[in-house]
Amino acid sequence: MTKNSLGAVRRALAFLLVLTIALPALAAEPEAVPPLEAEPAPYQDVVQVEQPEALDVLVNKYYQLPQDYKPELKALPSAYGGLSMRPEAADAFVEMAQAAAQDGFSLRVVSGYRSYHRQTSIYGNYRNQYGAATADTFSARPGFSEHQTGLAADINTASTRAHFENTATYRWLTEHCWDYGFILRYPQDKEAITGYRFEPWHYRYVGVDTALAVKESGLTYDEYAEQVNTQPITRAQLADELYRLTGENARSPYPQGYRDLERDADYLPSVAWALDQKLMAGVASGRFDPEGDVSQSYLAVVLYRLAQPEGYSPKTALDWAVESELMVLPADENAPVTRSELDRTLLRLEAALQEIS
Ligand code: DAL
Ligand code: ZN
Repeated sequence: MTKNSLGAVRRALAFLLVLTIALPALAAEPEAVPPLEAEPAPYQDVVQVEQPEALDVLVNKYYQLPQDYKPELKALPSAYGGLSMRPEAADAFVEMAQAAAQDGFSLRVVSGYRSYHRQTSIYGNYRNQYGAATADTFSARPGFSEHQTGLAADINTASTRAHFENTATYRWLTEHCWDYGFILRYPQDKEAITGYRFEPWHYRYVGVDTALAVKESGLTYDEYAEQVNTQPITRAQLADELYRLTGENARSPYPQGYRDLERDADYLPSVAWALDQKLMAGVASGRFDPEGDVSQSYLAVVLYRLAQPEGYSPKTALDWAVESELMVLPADENAPVTRSELDRTLLRLEAALQEIS
């Protein structure tokens, strides 16, 4: 995330404020709310991935990559297959392969990065051969393959006939892949969740912390990522994101007038800053709960205060945040803001910052 002064953030938000006031007719148009589906249909209820370069990006039959997305790539040494992956993933793979070699196992990438066009031809061939219903159980449609992220690796084989799951190499991988930031993406008996048959060879790089968290959760990555995305954010997390966005320093190490904040807590620099800047309230009571919920209207008020330190009401703030497309119209203004909702708001805020700079 690029650093911007609080002044720049304020100008960007004030610009959005003027824009939405100047275009009342346009701004008043309510955003279409998609109907809630009990069971979203694969390839039908599709969300466009907004940050394809995120190491923890979720790509499946519901999350589609932009057609023109091509990551930065690095070729693996020929001993490991010579194919290309994202540099982070390629380096982690080499490290993992070296550790495996020490234990007597050989790892090679037989498929790494695949472009949208390459996936079009792979999927198209399978569809012509087997029909779409069967092809869909083992091959991703273009735009829906993790291989387009450059973070996926088919290791040693990509064929069920090889019965890789019965090899000692596979057992080594299931034990150690996490420590190198890789996860088994399409496990056995999880077809109904992942949308694909068991692929003992397909590993996905997500970074070590996430891989270990996925291992610990025992969930498929589809479930894990969805859980993270729908988790409510806390006030400390909100302060943290805005603090990082502005790149400011806290004026004082401990906010004046607060009794019960822990003095050495991780959240302190950002919470101290947000309280000092009066983005978040509480000084009258002297209390602030860093773990407290962020409701839709709470987020709107914080954003509004960023734009205009004075004069707001929760209703004006929410109307403005929705009209300026910083937030999506909430069904319930007291509903907690989720991680993915906050990410969307931050993306829009960054876009506004770029527009004015
Ligand atoms: N075989 C996996 C699902 C892919 O095509 O990306
Ligand atoms: Zn694969």
